[in-house]
Amino acid sequence: MKGWKRVIHEVMADVAAARDRDPAAQKVSTFEILSSWAGVQALLAHRVAHALYEAGLPFLPRLLSYLTRAVTGVEIHPAARIGREFFIDHGSGVVIGETAEIGERVTLYQGVTLGGTGFQRGKRHPTLGDNVTVGSGAKLLGPIAVGDGAKIGANTVVIEDVPPGATVVGNPGHPVKVDGKRVEGPDADWIHLPDPIAEAIKTLSQRIADLESRLADLDGGETPGGEPPQLRERTGRSSAGG
Ligand SMILES: CC(C)(COP(=O)(O)OP(=O)(O)OC[C@H]1O[C@@H](n2cnc3c(N)ncnc32)[C@H](O)[C@@H]1OP(=O)(O)O)[C@@H](O)C(=O)NCCC(=O)NCCS
Repeated sequence: MKGWKRVIHEVMADVAAARDRDPAAQKVSTFEILSSWAGVQALLAHRVAHALYEAGLPFLPRLLSYLTRAVTGVEIHPAARIGREFFIDHGSGVVIGETAEIGERVTLYQGVTLGGTGFQRGKRHPTLGDNVTVGSGAKLLGPIAVGDGAKIGANTVVIEDVPPGATVVGNPGHPVKVDGKRVEGPDADWIHLPDPIAEAIKTLSQRIADLESRLADLDGGETPGGEPPQLRERTGRSSAGG
């Protein structure tokens, strides 16, 4: 009985979170949110499936999770631990793995994966702190920790821990802001990293050109093969602003 009371409280807090964080849900009744917000429905079903899973019931939790995926497009393993006031905006395409742990007041957009890398056993899914926001299409892979208040950009692929308050974007994900301030300094420039292979090809190409020109001087003829192709200089802004 106590468990069900907890589930009802959690569901009410989740509906309030949807109204709070989705501008489209501002003046919408609780009944309408429960009947037409796929992310809220998926979470509601998960709260029940998780309670049944914790109670040790076989089969039913997984069946509930499977049916929920068929209806909402959101797949949450019954064992996943999800804190209060969780909100999945738009629902569809979200996958939350078995050993994932999610703190309080977390928001996920559509297409987010909290998955494993495919090689581990045991704890193999991410742990998200409180007040984390994960943008649409982001993939968080492996038993990584995402600190409180972190923001993960849309389509980011995160395979390493994220510090609290950091904004992480790109593939692989890298911090561009911490506590709202841009990351500064040479280590912050993730775009213009040294490229040893390009440097080696450039040096070799220059040496071949020098040798050819010396041969041409000796033979009194023309340099064979014409000009070597020029390697394009990398340009453009750093996404880190560094
Ligand atoms: C990551 C995010 C939270 C950053 O917001 P912000 O704090 O306002 O940061 P900024 O817009 O100042 O961006 C900082 C830098 O990261 C880059 N960036 C931002 N989001 C990015 C993303 N998803 N992928 C790659 N680069 C991104 C910006 O171009 C900027 O680069 P610069 O320093 O070279 O100018 C936001 O861009 C985002 O992706 N939110 C998710 C929204 C979403 O999924 N909506 C779905 C609605 S249906």
